[in-house]
Amino acid sequence: MTLKKIDPTQTSSWKSLKSHFNEIKDVDMKEMFRKGKKAKDFTINWDDFSIDFSKNRLNSKTLDLLLNLASECNLKHAIEQQFSGEKINQTESRAVLHSAVRGGIDQKIMVDNQDVMPSILKSRKKIKTFTDNVLSGKITGSTNKPFTDIVNIGIGGSDLGPSMVVEALKYYSSKLKSHFVSNVDGDHVLEILKDLNPETTLFIIVSKTFTTQETISNATTIRNWMVRMMGENSVQSHFAAVSTNTNAIENFGIKSDYVFSMNDWVGGRFSLWSSVGLSICLSIGSENFENLLKGARKMDIHFKSSPFNENIPVVLAMISIWYNNFFNCETEAIIPYSQYLSKLPAYLQQAVMESNGKSADRNGQNIAYQTGNIIWGNTGTNSQHAFFQLIHQGTKLIPCDFIGFNKPLYSENTQHNKLMSNFFAQTEALMMGKTSGEVKSELAKLSLDENQIKFLLPYKIFEGNKPTNTILIEKLSPKSLGSLIAMYEHKIFVQGIIWNIFSYDQWGVELGKQLASKVLDEIENKEPKIHDDSTNSLLKNYLKD
Ligand code: F6P
Repeated sequence: MTLKKIDPTQTSSWKSLKSHFNEIKDVDMKEMFRKGKKAKDFTINWDDFSIDFSKNRLNSKTLDLLLNLASECNLKHAIEQQFSGEKINQTESRAVLHSAVRGGIDQKIMVDNQDVMPSILKSRKKIKTFTDNVLSGKITGSTNKPFTDIVNIGIGGSDLGPSMVVEALKYYSSKLKSHFVSNVDGDHVLEILKDLNPETTLFIIVSKTFTTQETISNATTIRNWMVRMMGENSVQSHFAAVSTNTNAIENFGIKSDYVFSMNDWVGGRFSLWSSVGLSICLSIGSENFENLLKGARKMDIHFKSSPFNENIPVVLAMISIWYNNFFNCETEAIIPYSQYLSKLPAYLQQAVMESNGKSADRNGQNIAYQTGNIIWGNTGTNSQHAFFQLIHQGTKLIPCDFIGFNKPLYSENTQHNKLMSNFFAQTEALMMGKTSGEVKSELAKLSLDENQIKFLLPYKIFEGNKPTNTILIEKLSPKSLGSLIAMYEHKIFVQGIIWNIFSYDQWGVELGKQLASKVLDEIENKEPKIHDDSTNSLLKNYLKD
C-alpha cells in the first residue's frame, strides 16, 4: 500500500483555515493572554519535556482546524504505514524504518515478508561489542597500542547526525577523542591528519552507498597517509566501515569484523541510530548509546499512540504549516539555549530541507503551495548578539523554537540562571514588543527633548507578536536528546504527509553531482567543453596556467 495522495488545499479544513486566517492574522498574542488565554491549554507535558506553544498566533479554533487538516490528510493511517514497514518511499520503492533501528527487542517489523528486527538487534550487538572492545583496549591499532582518537569519514547524513550528537553529548564522552572529516576540500582532511598519531587512530568510513565522491576521496587520502606511515598491513587494524555496499568495502581492504552493515530502508539523514552511529557509540560508550535509542523509542511510542491534540510532533508540525502556508513565513529558526546543541540547526537543515524541499506532489503534479521550511539558527545567547535584531525588528515573521534545559550538566555551573533568564526573556520580549507609549516614557526619563524623542521613537518601537515554541527539557542526557531528535524527525514526516510529497528521496542533489563529475574530467584533462558563457569564463580563469 502506498500513501494516499490528497491535495491539502482541496480539503474542507484548508478552506476553513483560510477564512479563519483572516480572523486571526492581525490578532495580538498579548491581547489573547489578557483576554484569558491560558498557557496550560497550549502546553504538552510529556516525560521530562514541557512544550509550551501558547506564544503562537493561534487559538483553540485554529488548533482544531489544523488537527482536522491532519485527519483529512489521512495522517493517522500514514503513521501506521510508516511504522509497519510499508514502502512509503515510493520513488525509491523502499520502506522508511529509522524507527525500527532503534526499536525494542519485543518488536516485530516485516519488510518483504521478513521480520527485520533480528538483523537490527544483531548489528546493534556488533556495534556494542566492538565499542566495548575498543574502549577496554582489547581491540588496538596495528602496534598493539590502544586507540586514543577516532575519525568519522562521511558527509551529509553520514556526518551531520553523528557529529551533532557527539558534540551534544560531549559531557558524557568516553576517553576517545572524536574528529569528523566531511568536505571534499583536501585542506579539511589534511588539517585533521596533522595532529593525529596513526598508531592510535581508528578511522571509520561511513557511506550508505560507498560511492560518495567526498567520502571516498577523503578515505583514499587517509588510507595513503596510513600506508605511508605504517605500511599496508596497518589498514585492516585502523579502518572500519559502515555501508550497504559490502563489496566496495572489501575492495578497500577492511576486514569483516570491522564492517557494519546498513539497510536501504534507513535514509542517510535519519541514520544516526543505526551502524552510522558507530562513532557516537565509541565516543559516549555503549550504555549511553543505548539510552539515546531508548529516548527516541519513547518518542516513537508517543507519536504513534497519542491523540493529535496531545501529540508533540503533530502539533509542532501543524503550527509550522500554519505559518508556512497561511502566514507565508519563509523560514523557521531553531535556537537551543545550550552550547552543546550548537550543531543542531545544521543537522536539522539537512533533515528538514533534504526531506521536504520538493515541488512535485505524490501524483507527480507541480505543487501550487509552499512546502519545505528553510531552517536556520544558532545557540542562545550567542544568536541574541548576532541575528536577533532581525527577528525582533526586521520585516519578516520568523517563528522560532527555543530549546532549553532546566538543569545544567556541571554542578559547579553558577551561570545557568543567567542563561535561562535570557531564554525566558527573549520569548516574552518577542511576543510583548514595546509600544510607542512605553518607548516615549523611557526616553522621557532620559531627559530627552520632544524633538529627540520624536526622532528616536520609530527605531525604538518593537512590534512584538512574534511567535515562539518553548521546548523545555529537564536535563540534556542521551535519553532526552534521543527524544528531541526523534521529535523533529516525526515533525518532518507529518509535514511531508500534509504537503502530499515524498519526504524520503533526495533527487534534487543529483544534478550538481553529475555536472561536477563532468567538470572534473574537463579540469583534469585541461579541456573545457562548451558551457554557458559564465561557466566557460570561470573555467578558463581557473585553468589559466
Ligand atoms: O547529499 C545527498 C546524500 O545522498 C545524502 O542524502 C546522504 O546523507 C549523503 O549524500 C551521503 O551519502 P552516503 O552515505 O551514501 O555517502
